[in-house]
Amino acid sequence: MELFVYFCRNKKLVIMQQKLVVFTGAGISAESGIPTFRDKNGMWGKYDAMKLASVEGFEEDPQAVLDFYNARRKNLLEVEPNHAHFVLAELEKQYDVTIITQNVDNLHERAGSSKVIHLHGELFKVTSSRNRLDSDCIKEYPLDVPICLGDKAADGSQLRPYIVWFGEYVDNMDLAEHLVKMADIFVVIGTSLVVYPAAGLVNYAHREIPKYLIDPNDMKRGLPFGFEHIKAKAAEGVDELVRRMEELEK
Ligand code: APR
Repeated sequence: MELFVYFCRNKKLVIMQQKLVVFTGAGISAESGIPTFRDKNGMWGKYDAMKLASVEGFEEDPQAVLDFYNARRKNLLEVEPNHAHFVLAELEKQYDVTIITQNVDNLHERAGSSKVIHLHGELFKVTSSRNRLDSDCIKEYPLDVPICLGDKAADGSQLRPYIVWFGEYVDNMDLAEHLVKMADIFVVIGTSLVVYPAAGLVNYAHREIPKYLIDPNDMKRGLPFGFEHIKAKAAEGVDELVRRMEELEK
């Protein structure tokens, strides 16, 4: 475990853990039973993304959108974090770990990860359909309680899932970019890297640091520059990742 040790002004000993930043997508939850979006049997192969995951779709047919998300919210109660989620949580013993995820599930948190940033929203929260970033309206909502037409947010507008729909602004990108820039080790797991601005995060990692990508498939747009491709499913790939990070310290 590589630590940075230095003395601060009042001669107190300060130990800094290496910053490990992990950027995840749907692939890390696939082995927990949550389908990805663009693989064979992926969600967007079965459902129309623009009808079900856009403001226009919600205006046109709010019931269909609520049914889609209520089913995904209920399904989240039936799945568990997998080995990949647990290994990332475990790494907090050795590293200062931050998870930046595109996933709207809470499997990272349920596996014990303490620093998780959701770029695309969270299934277990709801918000206002007038202003989804209004913090007075964002609140946790039991996964087994369906969001219904007529349910009101604190501002009196129709309640909606706290999800970033296509075409909507991703409000914590600045923080995510900053964290990737500050990383000592950067890891990407289970994302096709085709949805922006999130996919652009791979360009913020410092060129000198170790960078790994875990995915059983080749990347549609090629492997980002400077990354080692661990060609495996997440649960198996994280064990290989740990082995390679141990190598780094030898
Ligand atoms: N382990 C690791 N990776 C996997 C596994 C697995 N078991 N199974 C599939 N993958 C990989 C696929 O090869 C693919 O590269 O996970 C990736 C999943 O890609 P997508 O389905 O496109 O999901 P993601 O990249 O997370 O989508 C980004 O798009 O639909 C929107 O908002 C939604 O956050 C989502 C965003």
